[in-house]
Amino acid sequence: MNCIQCNLEVKDGKRFCSECGAPQFLLCPACNSQSPLGKSFCSDCGTAIGAPHTPSKQADSKNIEKKPAAIDETKEINSGERKVITVLFADIKGSMELIEHLDPEDARALVEPALQLMIDAVLHYDGYVVQTTGDGIFAMFGAPVVHEDHAHRALYAALRMQSKLKEYSARICAEGYQPIQGRVGVHTGEVVVRPLRIGNGQVEYTPIGHSTSLGARLQTLAPVGSIAASEAIRQLCEGSCEFNDLGLTKVKGVTELVKVYEVTGMGKQRTRMQRSAGQGFSKFVGRARELDAIKTAVALAQAGSGQVLAIVAEAGTGKSRLIFEAMADIRAAANVLETSSVSHGKTSYCLPLIELLHLYFAIEAQDDEYKRREKVINKIADLDPKLVDIHAYVLNLLNLGSSDDTLLEGDERTQELRTWEGIKRLFVRESVNRPLTLIFEDLHWIDDQTQEFLNVLTDAIGTARILLIVNYRAEYVHQWGNKSYFTQIRLDPLGQSTATEMLGAMLGSNEQLSDLKRLIVEKSSGTPFFMEEMVKALFDDGTLARDGKVILTKKLDELDIPSSVQAILAARIDRLPSQAKEILQTLAVIGREFPMPLILSVTGLSQDKLEKQLKELQLGEFIYETTVFGEKGYIFKSALTQDVAYNTLLVERRKILHERIGASIEAVFLSSIDDHIAVLAYHYGRSNNIDLGMQYLTHSGRQKLMEARKSSGLGSLHALIKSENTEFASDVRTTVSTIDSVESIWRYPVKSMAGEKLASVFVSDKGIVGDRVYAFVDEESNRTAVVRKWADNFLNYHPHFVSEPKAGSEIPTLQIVMPSGETITTSNSDVEERISTAFARKLKLLATAPPGLLIEVPKGTLGGSLSEVTEFPLGGGAPAGAFFDYGCLHLIASSTLDHLQKVYPKGRFDVRRFRPNIVIQSDAAAFIENSWVGRTIAIGNELVLRVSIPCPRCISVTLAQDDLPRDPGILRAIAEQNMCDLGDFGNLPCAGVYAEVIHAGKIQCGDTLRFVE
Ligand SMILES: Nc1ncnc2c1ncn2[C@@H]1O[C@H](COP(=O)(O)OP(=O)(O)OP(=O)(O)O)[C@@H](O)[C@H]1O
Ligand SMILES: [Mg+2]
Repeated sequence: MNCIQCNLEVKDGKRFCSECGAPQFLLCPACNSQSPLGKSFCSDCGTAIGAPHTPSKQADSKNIEKKPAAIDETKEINSGERKVITVLFADIKGSMELIEHLDPEDARALVEPALQLMIDAVLHYDGYVVQTTGDGIFAMFGAPVVHEDHAHRALYAALRMQSKLKEYSARICAEGYQPIQGRVGVHTGEVVVRPLRIGNGQVEYTPIGHSTSLGARLQTLAPVGSIAASEAIRQLCEGSCEFNDLGLTKVKGVTELVKVYEVTGMGKQRTRMQRSAGQGFSKFVGRARELDAIKTAVALAQAGSGQVLAIVAEAGTGKSRLIFEAMADIRAAANVLETSSVSHGKTSYCLPLIELLHLYFAIEAQDDEYKRREKVINKIADLDPKLVDIHAYVLNLLNLGSSDDTLLEGDERTQELRTWEGIKRLFVRESVNRPLTLIFEDLHWIDDQTQEFLNVLTDAIGTARILLIVNYRAEYVHQWGNKSYFTQIRLDPLGQSTATEMLGAMLGSNEQLSDLKRLIVEKSSGTPFFMEEMVKALFDDGTLARDGKVILTKKLDELDIPSSVQAILAARIDRLPSQAKEILQTLAVIGREFPMPLILSVTGLSQDKLEKQLKELQLGEFIYETTVFGEKGYIFKSALTQDVAYNTLLVERRKILHERIGASIEAVFLSSIDDHIAVLAYHYGRSNNIDLGMQYLTHSGRQKLMEARKSSGLGSLHALIKSENTEFASDVRTTVSTIDSVESIWRYPVKSMAGEKLASVFVSDKGIVGDRVYAFVDEESNRTAVVRKWADNFLNYHPHFVSEPKAGSEIPTLQIVMPSGETITTSNSDVEERISTAFARKLKLLATAPPGLLIEVPKGTLGGSLSEVTEFPLGGGAPAGAFFDYGCLHLIASSTLDHLQKVYPKGRFDVRRFRPNIVIQSDAAAFIENSWVGRTIAIGNELVLRVSIPCPRCISVTLAQDDLPRDPGILRAIAEQNMCDLGDFGNLPCAGVYAEVIHAGKIQCGDTLRFVE
């Protein structure tokens, strides 16, 4: 057991926490006697333990006394969390009219009980009352304690509220008052739950987010005396509750019309299996071995060797379905009685056992008390008159005994034990006539009394013709393991081929869906429920449609997590002790797998402490041990768990963690940093240190680009890019018309120096003639520099040719205007000396890139902790001899620059920052160039280009040059507006495109663009 206050372990039987001294029991407000946590009533005087007097005193209430077992307040105080919850708003309709003529005290006497019963209904289902107003309440389910069925609980609470209000209204009407009616609104969605200390060590929780407002608005739309719910609620609870479609409604503060439903009552499908059956089962796949094991147990029990068969697996793996599929065999051999625990039933006395007895005695909802008694007494008498002594106990358990029943012996506890004993005898006797199979599902939610009964029963099963089949999730613990007649079947998620078979049955064999199927199997890790829910969500949001066969209606890169799945996983994560949970969240930010040294560095914990926590996560089957980069490490068992854990963190917290992880990677992998560039780019790119992120981002993109170009050559470059634009491009054919034209032409005679603007130019197969034909190279190191290192100031040097260069001819003399205004020329021998002096290093002017020339990039690019600059080969795939980084022609559309200017008005999106060769005047959408990738474009009468890749941007666009100031916001704006998936090269901020020349030719400003098909 964990302490209700500090959540550290408290030894069994201890009444106070040895760490913080908090009592671990409940105190009865009436007689002061102590009861164990979790009890609702005092066993000495029957008073409700700690029932709240006012909602603001929740810390004193039954609910809150249960709450701390699962909430670590200190943790939440520090951070707050993102959670998907259900909000419930309820108010008393017409309260003004109701109390109009009453004395305030009388009014209070009338309204307060109504409010109290609303609160009680919320507490009954473990909800949390956030606030009360004079005539209403605001409650939430799923926070601060996460429940996987928060939406169901909220609806059950709403229904209970309405039914209790009706009873109350009838009572006050009988006393001559106006009737009272309530309206309830319920909605589910993501919020931030922020805790607030309110003094006295108490904490209040408030959900913040749009979902809360929508819940409040729904309440005002609820028909009087009824419950209004949103589409999100209907999707989660269809079948468990009855919904009446009220149609689309305009809701204040919401742009689109909102679908509203009236909740009219409980549905027939109480368990998930019943709901699945209601919607039509998926084709059953696999599980042959497990079905055989059930058959064996059935046969043994039938032959008089009673068995306990346990099926254990995580939520949604198929425990219930397996039993369902085995049912034909089970029924052929025996009488079958089935029952299950429900998540909100842990504190309900003997609920599953009572349900089982109702089935056994064939008691139906409409039977009155007399009939029920009669059924019980007759059935027991018919079975065996010797069992007459158990009547009173069974009747008492079923709430059918009368209080003066003298047949009950002993105190309450003795009576309880005799009840279990009696029911055991009943079932054992029954099995003499015909073998009996008892099925108890979901023992992880079982109440203490039903558990006690099962312990008594299992002791006696070995020699009876009884098969007890139970199922539970991994967190449940029992004491039956050492019984010779106990068998446990551990159900794993479906293997890849079985999971694919299941999806095949759901989605058909359309080849278009193979990637999607792969993605679903990978994300769900083969858990059937998750697969079903993902497919359902894709149909619900229109991504999948049926048109004779199942088709994909749009491109899909990511799968959203359905809220039903998110709820299950979030609840699992929330059950972890606080420190283990915090570590899991941190691990989720690191990635799918993580080596031990990195975890140590990120968490800052000692090895011992960390290992203890990781053990906890391993035991809970959240992570597995593995080897990462040759070191001991761990991997998330399921990608979905990682996603859900990541999503619980506030964005601000994620950013801090990403930065911390980036710094840890730099420190831990200092000697092999080049292998980690992409992952550093990922983490810094998601941190507050976006500049560093950008540097890694672009560096990582370039690194990959160069490698790919080197190994595959220009022609296949495009094939390497996972272009998103094939479909988009076809739309563009009609929208990008020939009105797009050349606005300006730019040439950069010296690599990294300013450009010259031209009216017309000849474009050879190596790009614009004279473009980047010179570079200053560090003689000593054979390195050139990009405009981000010692060569920053190159941008303020303006070179131009004295005469127009011609393809295939000698390069003409170049004049360079220095920042001082002085001009130097390449025909003078002192040009190298002048530049070398200006940049304090020995620089050589080269007109041909020598083999092995390296580009030097700034120190900051590899993070503050690195002392070395990094270098990589220049122009890995550029035409031999030229000084291009990785493309010989660079185009950008004016609409892109205009758009960026609009979104970041303070920035100066001067074309000089972008160093393009051709600016295209275009009225099309911003970043229209993305859609040109892979297409062939003719400009003017001769030039034909093929666009190869969006142009990744780095910090050079942010640098100061001439009159333009340094401005990191420029790159940030691009990153916010246009991150492009460059496939193997990563996700990079892009503006403009690179192109290869297919047919050389002359161009001039004003030339129009045409797509060549
Ligand atoms: N082998 C299978 N083939 C096809 N569908 C399956 C299979 N196993 C489970 N399913 C489907 O997956 C869904 C979840 O299964 P089920 O309800 O049995 O999970 P569970 O382990 O009982 O989960 P819980 O712990 O939440 O009760 C159901 O809709 C079920 O029909
Ligand atoms: Mg189940």
